[in-house]
Amino acid sequence: MNVALGVGGGIAAYKAAELARALMEHGFSVQAILTDAAQEFITPLTFAALTGRKVISNLFSAANPEGTLASAVEHISVAEQHDILVIAPATADLMAKLAHGLAGDFLTTTYLAFTGPVVLAPAMNSNMWNHPATRENLRILRERGHVIVEPEDGLLACGDVGPGRLAEPQKIADVVAGLAASGRRATVRQHRDLEGEVILITAGPTQEPLDAVRYLSNRSSGKMGYALAAGALERGARVILVAGPVHLDPPKGAEVIPVHTAVEMRAAVMEHLEESTIIIKAAAVADYHRVNAPNHKVKKTAARMSLELDPTPDILAELGRVKGDRLLVGFAAETENLVEEARRKLESKNCDMVVANLVSAEGEGFESDENEVVLVLRTGEAIPVKRAPKTAIAHRIFDEMIKLRLALHSSR
Ligand code: C5P
Repeated sequence: MNVALGVGGGIAAYKAAELARALMEHGFSVQAILTDAAQEFITPLTFAALTGRKVISNLFSAANPEGTLASAVEHISVAEQHDILVIAPATADLMAKLAHGLAGDFLTTTYLAFTGPVVLAPAMNSNMWNHPATRENLRILRERGHVIVEPEDGLLACGDVGPGRLAEPQKIADVVAGLAASGRRATVRQHRDLEGEVILITAGPTQEPLDAVRYLSNRSSGKMGYALAAGALERGARVILVAGPVHLDPPKGAEVIPVHTAVEMRAAVMEHLEESTIIIKAAAVADYHRVNAPNHKVKKTAARMSLELDPTPDILAELGRVKGDRLLVGFAAETENLVEEARRKLESKNCDMVVANLVSAEGEGFESDENEVVLVLRTGEAIPVKRAPKTAIAHRIFDEMIKLRLALHSSR
């Protein structure tokens, strides 16, 4: 597989050399593209030596210095010949250009001509990272379906401490490898295969009040459900997103219904059941709640206290009974016997697919940007999906869902 590696102009540009090497260790061929600013920090020669390939460094000087037609269209062939475009470090300036389609050099024109998956690894000073302009550009790029390898917290070149350090090259290379393994050459324009679908997605945890100020909840970040919502929108679906309390910007175009408790989530889901064609229950609904929680703050005493909890409504099981022709997808976070447990859940809750993940695996499942799952289907199949960003997993879930629907319809 061929990776085009765009390098922006920042202190972290030197780490892009390590990234080139890590990508090659994963078996990729790497074509480096350096912006003019990148060359202030690192020379094309470094990349040429590491990748064994001529480095592209400017729109009109790549193939021949006169800037004739042959070199002026080279970005189109680079875009066509590569499977994944990785940009690291993605500076604030580059992200702004990418977000708004400014195409004044080789890297930005290649980006516009490229139709495959894009991975961006931003790096910059914390204040620049937190600036509303950068946040907005990031939102646009994320919504476009690009995979963002978030910068890490730490000491920055400017002496500040905070978010902005380029993610470790090995980590970026792993994300790219995961994307390649998920086998999706995604394009926003070519895959509007969910047009006409109304997809009801639940995401995040629920919060069950114990009194006026305390609650029971869990570690769900909502990232998987939000990635599913973004993926479905990209592929042309209408998305109703019933979201528990999370710290995520909802994808543009999703109809968001914020809820707190399992009871509220159930009500929102049932209200929108009629119009939906696919229901995905990615939320980590609390299994127990305190009925009639006092609406004042319970005072602390020295005495031991115990809580009496009742089960929450099992929304998935209820949906299984009333779903009709709709596709119903449940999630199963398990610590052992993953596939067997998922099969049991699929049967007992009348789902068409259960997305099962082992929550004990390090860095996966809750809170993480990545996941490794098994898709257990009504047809009896169990499809393992290797570790990949949640955005890639989301697309794989939709790919399999579309195939499953065809299989279920043709067997009727
Ligand atoms: O049985 P378990 O809680 O592991 O099942 C997880 C699946 O069931 C998820 O899809 C979750 O959204 C759903 N669920 C639900 N209502 C509950 C508990 C879980 O819909 N009260």
